[in-house]
Amino acid sequence: MNRLHFAPRSNWMNDPNGLIFHRGRYHLYFQCNPIGIDHRNLSWGHASSTDLVHWEEHPVAIPFDGSEEVFSGSIVLDAGNTSGFGTDADPALVAIYTSESTERAHEAQSLAFSTDDGMTWTKYARNPVLDRDSAHFRDPKVIRWENGAESYWVLLAVEAEDRQVVLYRSDDLLTWTHLSSFGPEGAVGGVWECPDLFPLQVAGTQQTRWVLIVSLNPGGIAGGSGTQYFIGEFDGREFTPEERHPETVPDDEGGMLALDWLDYGRDCYAGVTFAGLPDDHRTLIAWMSNWDYARTFPVAPERPSRGRMTLPRRLSLVPAGGRLVLRQEPIAPAVVGIARLEDIEAGETLPTPVPIPAPGSAGRRIEFAVALGDARGFAVRFEAGDRSLELAYDAEAQQLSCDRRGASQGFPEGFASVQRMPVAAAPEIPLALWLDEDSVEIYAEDGTRVLTDLIGDLRAPSMSVRGVGGTVRLVHLTASDVTRADASAAPVAALHQMN
Ligand code: FRU
Repeated sequence: MNRLHFAPRSNWMNDPNGLIFHRGRYHLYFQCNPIGIDHRNLSWGHASSTDLVHWEEHPVAIPFDGSEEVFSGSIVLDAGNTSGFGTDADPALVAIYTSESTERAHEAQSLAFSTDDGMTWTKYARNPVLDRDSAHFRDPKVIRWENGAESYWVLLAVEAEDRQVVLYRSDDLLTWTHLSSFGPEGAVGGVWECPDLFPLQVAGTQQTRWVLIVSLNPGGIAGGSGTQYFIGEFDGREFTPEERHPETVPDDEGGMLALDWLDYGRDCYAGVTFAGLPDDHRTLIAWMSNWDYARTFPVAPERPSRGRMTLPRRLSLVPAGGRLVLRQEPIAPAVVGIARLEDIEAGETLPTPVPIPAPGSAGRRIEFAVALGDARGFAVRFEAGDRSLELAYDAEAQQLSCDRRGASQGFPEGFASVQRMPVAAAPEIPLALWLDEDSVEIYAEDGTRVLTDLIGDLRAPSMSVRGVGGTVRLVHLTASDVTRADASAAPVAALHQMN
C-alpha cells in the first residue's frame, strides 16, 4: 500500500533512533517490539531509503536480550576510528543507546557497532559505558564538537524525572566526563525525553545559532506528549538559551503559549535529526503518536502494526516577530495535481465544495489561501460518511483549530479532541495540508507553525470551505494526489489538464 508516512510492516513502533545519512542512504532505526504489537521487548528496528520517501525495511538491527531492552539513542560514523571498533580505512558506525535493565529500575548508556554500513550490529562487550546509577537516565544523542584544533564527542541525554539535559564529553566514545546540565526550564509538566542539539545558520545571514530540542511527556502544548525547543549558544561545554523561560506547566495557558513548540498537534513526539548531513540539510523525523493513547491504539487486522513516523522535515531558522523560530519544510513524495480553484466565494450558509476526487488515494497535499474580508474566520471541512475533520481559523483569537472529534469513533479515551495553534491574523491565510486516510500535517505561517494529528479512518473525504461570520474568498487552492509509485509523474502537466 502506498503511504505518506513510514510505518513498519508489523508490530509495535515508537521513537525514531540512530538517524544517519551514510554512503548515500538515509537510515531510520526505530523503537520496536520484534515479536508483538505492544510496547515491550524494545529493540531497534531498521529501514533505509535513498530519498526519504521510499523506505525499505530491514531485519531488526539491535535486539533486546535477557538482561536489557534497547531504548532510544543515536548513531555516529566514527570517522577517526576513535573507538577502535573499525579501522582507519574502514571506520565503524557506532550506536549509543539506553540499556533498560530487565532486572531492576536502572538506565545506562551502551554501545553497539556496525562494520557493514549499518546492516548488522554487535553489542560492545563492556557495556554500559556511561552509568549514573539512575533509573531515568536515557536517550543519548552524540554529536561531534569541532572548533579549530579542538574536537571531541559530546553526548546529551536526559535525567528524565529531573527535567534535565545532561552533557558529557569523550575522545573515544568509551569513557565520558560530565560537562554541564541544562534545565529544568520551560515546559516541565512531564518527564524530559529524547534531546537533540544542532547548529543552524540563520536564514539570510552568516550567523549560527544552536537549537536544543526536548520532548516531554506529559506536559505538551496539545496535551500529553509534546516537543519544545530552545534557541541559543553552545560553546562545546554548555548550552545557553537566548531567552530564559520560567518552569511552566499546562495549567498556565499563557506561559505554555510563550514557549517554542515544534508542533501544536497531539501526534509529533520524540523527533530527532539525522547525523551525516550538512547543517543546511538538517532533517528531523518524529514518531506520530502520543503516550496518552499509543498503547491502546486500535490495530487493523489486515495490518497488525502500531505506530508511524511524521514526514521528514527539513529545518531552518528564520526571523519572525523580532525573534528567531524554527521553520519546517516537509519532504514528501511526488504529487499529481487533481484540482485547482481560484477566486471563489464561500459564504456561511453555502459552503463551497472543493472537487478532490481521488478515491483510494495514498495521500493528498492541499494548499490554499483564504482572504477573510470582513468575516471572523473560515472553516474547512472534510467528510466521509459519518466521519469528519474540521479545521477552523478564528481571526480574533489568531488561532487555527483542528477538530478531530468527528473522526474519533472507536479510538481510545482522550483521543477525541480539538487542537489549537497560533496563526497570526493577515488579510490572507495560506495553509498547506498533507492528508492521508489517518493523519493530517498542517503547515502554517510558511512552516513556522505546524500541527500534526492522527485521525480516525477518513478515506476519500469530500472537502468544503465556508466563511464564519461573513463571506470569505478562496484565493486559490491546489489539491494534489501523492503518487509514490511513479516519482517521474509530471505534476504540472497533469494539473493543467484539470483546468
Ligand atoms: C520516548 C521514550 C524514550 C525511551 C523510549 C522507550 O517515547 O519513552 O524516553 O527511550 O521511548 O521506548
